Amino acid sequence: MSQWPDTRILDLLGIELPIIQAPMAGATTSAMVIAASNAGGLGSMPAAMLSVEQLREELKTIRQHSQRPINVNFFCHQPPAADEQRARDWKNLLAPYYRELGVDFDAPTPVSNRAPFDHAACEVIEALRPEVVSFHFGLPEKSLLDRVKATGAKVLSSATTVEEALWLEQQGCDAIIAMGYEAGGHRGMFLSDDLSSQIGLFALVPQIVDAVKVPVIAAGGITDARGVAAAFVLGASAVQVGTAYLFTPEAKVSASHHKALRTAKASETAVTNIFTGRPARGILNRVMRELGPMSDKAPAFPLAGGALMPLRTKGESDFSNLWAGQAFTLGVELTTAQLTRKLADEGLAKLINR
Ligand SMILES: Cc1cc2nc3c(=O)[nH]c(=O)nc-3n(C[C@H](O)[C@H](O)[C@H](O)COP(=O)(O)O)c2cc1C
Repeated sequence: MSQWPDTRILDLLGIELPIIQAPMAGATTSAMVIAASNAGGLGSMPAAMLSVEQLREELKTIRQHSQRPINVNFFCHQPPAADEQRARDWKNLLAPYYRELGVDFDAPTPVSNRAPFDHAACEVIEALRPEVVSFHFGLPEKSLLDRVKATGAKVLSSATTVEEALWLEQQGCDAIIAMGYEAGGHRGMFLSDDLSSQIGLFALVPQIVDAVKVPVIAAGGITDARGVAAAFVLGASAVQVGTAYLFTPEAKVSASHHKALRTAKASETAVTNIFTGRPARGILNRVMRELGPMSDKAPAFPLAGGALMPLRTKGESDFSNLWAGQAFTLGVELTTAQLTRKLADEGLAKLINR
């Protein structure tokens, strides 16, 4: 029998440990998902940067190596209308960097590749039937959500405010991910784009726990056992941990991202829209400092990223997103399996020996 003081997420998702390895598009690999799920947590495969064929292959690989429950994660933003003037203005703002690095300004601008959940992705879910499907930026349209639910998958989504949590519960989410302002990567915000509405995890979790009936998963700044125990004390039934998994050998992290995670100071993250058009937290670098971190010139999500791509070939760390949550300096080098078990074992020990 589980010793955890709250087993609602364990029972709902059929997992042993209330540790969800966060989906991290670009950084999570199938090896990470397999290791997290086989360790007893919930491995999460992000789909936002994969084609439907790639997603299918990744899920087949995962299923070959783990029979445990897994989560597949999707963005569900509205694709933006083309705005050529805005795209031109944005590229012109970047022109001095193109000149400095000797990158061809007149070459066609690449298109940023973060795709929302759609009919084709839903077919993959219907065919491969992950036990859990999570969404970021709200939920997909009702007909798609109904199809996901009809597979038997439990549905999760991120809330960054109490209003978003209530909305998600009303639409039928089985559990809510309370995403504190500390969290790395894109803010899941979807009812408001006002950054002043964003709440730190200590304030957010108990308010969401009081407002909804479904179980709550705490995400943001949880990197070690202290964070796990604190989340449970605040009323969470599980934690979703992202940045800590960037330190594992299973993470796909560029050399400059790796270096920044190990050398930057705790105060050096910021929420920026420079890289994609949506607010996301990462380690400060040159383009964030010089154009942002927030810019009202950035094209709508995900289009802002295209014009930065050519600059990365010559100035990678200055022009790439280095996503990280505010607690990144606590990260330690362990395998995904070791980290998952350590978070659970030491988190539980802190809770029951209080
Ligand atoms: C590199 C990176 C990529 C991320 N990509 C996604 C994603 O594709 N989908 C998603 O729902 N959340 C994404 N997130 C947010 C995480 O799922 C999670 O909520 C967050 O990392 C928790 O905060 P922490 O990083 O402080 O642990 C990403 C976070 C990071 C650090």
